[in-house]
Amino acid sequence: MRKILVTGGLGFIGSHTVVELQNNGFEVVIIDDLSNSSESVLDGIIGITHKKPTFENLDLKEKASVENFFKKHNDISGVIHFAASKAVGESVENPLLYYENNLHTLIYMLKDVLGLQESNFIFSSSCTVYGQADKMPITENAPIKLAESPYGNTKQIGEEIITDTCKVNLNLNAIALRYFNPIGAHSSALIGELPIGIPQNLVPYITQTGFGLRECLSVFGNDYPTPDGTCIRDYIHVVDLAKAHVLALQRLLDKKNDSNFETFNVGTGVGSSVLEVITAFEGVSNKSLNYKFAPRREGDVISAYADITKANNVLGWKAKSSLEDAIDSAWKWEQKIRNL
Ligand code: WQD
Repeated sequence: MRKILVTGGLGFIGSHTVVELQNNGFEVVIIDDLSNSSESVLDGIIGITHKKPTFENLDLKEKASVENFFKKHNDISGVIHFAASKAVGESVENPLLYYENNLHTLIYMLKDVLGLQESNFIFSSSCTVYGQADKMPITENAPIKLAESPYGNTKQIGEEIITDTCKVNLNLNAIALRYFNPIGAHSSALIGELPIGIPQNLVPYITQTGFGLRECLSVFGNDYPTPDGTCIRDYIHVVDLAKAHVLALQRLLDKKNDSNFETFNVGTGVGSSVLEVITAFEGVSNKSLNYKFAPRREGDVISAYADITKANNVLGWKAKSSLEDAIDSAWKWEQKIRNL
């Protein structure tokens, strides 16, 4: 059984990926520092797969501890690196925290990966690297635009670090997955998203408002040049996204990659406006959502949705869930965690 390290494996996307890896016969070792997650997520994972992943509570900035970890686990065949800070607003307030958390740790991790027998590495990147793309849908060849935030910049610089490292280390095989907007939860409602404090992202804000935890959703801008005036995004079910990681990993393990650093968009290929997301929520929950129009949010792009031809053709991956399915799962999860 091949052993895979998942950093940030107790986080939102990480935990769903651990489940898919275990369901596909991989042995999983998780590193997580619990800074934005909880050890109880392990129970959710075990509840779904009936397999216990190894868990190490480690801060990836502690270089020596991570080196010791790799001495103990020198038989790791692949690393999926989720661990990072991801709040756009916080990154503007505290850029050095973001550069340290997201880039130091990436550099240390790559050094350790280079020391393994098999140097297979998957990096969590983001559609944020495209900024406001000139053409929709966005292909992987679209130009990388000036980052809107330190968070976005860490993803761009992260990809550059991997590009440069791969150029001179031909035994390093890496894939960056550029996620569009991940939403939803596992159909079991045993794992899902756990935003701390007031959610910054649309779907958790909607489900919390639907549940009565928040009074009213502010829709940021209704004067954008889109059919209904609100911004358009590509909302991808987190389980579909998790499955893309397993396929990307398998591609590296089977040595099927065309070059030693590849990038793939991971989205549905369908753009949905904020008002369409609200309508979808109202449909699945049978509730009418309290919302109001508010000014535009700084840094928001008008529209971003993926061209998924490359992931379709090369990874053999396609999103299966609709927006309604994904919102339904997020709503079930919201009700489950609030009723515990
Ligand atoms: C979606 C739409 C908002 C909240 C961010 C990061 C990105 C990625 C995912 C992750 C926008 C609108 C939102 C609200 C609203 N990174 N909105 N009212 O900004 O597309 O992407 O998360 O780790 O890098 O930038 O996602 O969910 O915040 O917003 O109207 O209360 O919903 O303006 O149009 P975004 P989001």
